[in-house]
Amino acid sequence: MKIFLDTANIEEIRQAHAWGVIDGVTTNPSLIAKNGKDFIQTIYEIAELVQGPVSAETIAQDTEGMVREGRLLAQIHPHIVVKIPLTPAGIAATKQLSSEGIKTNVTLCFQSNQALLAAKAGATYISPFLGRLDDISQQGVGLIEEIVHIYENYDFETQVLAASIRHPKHMVDVALAGADVATLPFGVLEKMFKHPLTDAGNAKFLKDWETVPNNNIEEAVRDWLAKQ
Ligand code: G3P
Repeated sequence: MKIFLDTANIEEIRQAHAWGVIDGVTTNPSLIAKNGKDFIQTIYEIAELVQGPVSAETIAQDTEGMVREGRLLAQIHPHIVVKIPLTPAGIAATKQLSSEGIKTNVTLCFQSNQALLAAKAGATYISPFLGRLDDISQQGVGLIEEIVHIYENYDFETQVLAASIRHPKHMVDVALAGADVATLPFGVLEKMFKHPLTDAGNAKFLKDWETVPNNNIEEAVRDWLAKQ
């Protein structure tokens, strides 16, 4: 499963990239607004840094406008993926942009029929929103399972990009469901590292190591190698 970071904050992306665990980035108008910086420069910098897919969302609501915006956004950087809302106009724009070889991420998907339409339009990614379904007492992960199953039935190439992830359990759930990609906020990525037994075990190993003679690994190995 690929992991994308769901943010427009370059510092968060820099940190996650340094850990070596992210394959791409997704943004949306709310995340761009929260970041508060020039959006084109931000998207360019993100794409340069991650050298992987970076979703940038269109704002126009009609097909022609979305296609125009999509074509322009795609020129910012070769890694740009044009993000388009799942409306009739959006699906038509996805079909057009896909036919031009421009990568698309169809967003705001809340039911499997919508995912079927996005796949028919040749979308590169479909983004079902787990957390927002959980918010209204529906099974977010159930939607991911359903879409993965439907796409497998017909060998659709559209990748399932699980979005609106709110906590580490969501990551496990979507990995088990077979999502191709999960996009998550930086805070959830940080929590994925955590387990109290890891911290306790590490602390105990360090304490025990203090009793080992000549315990500076770098010096000890260099000394040993020099004597060989
Ligand atoms: O980018 C789409 C998505 O991940 C939004 O998440 O938490 O605003 O529902 P959220």
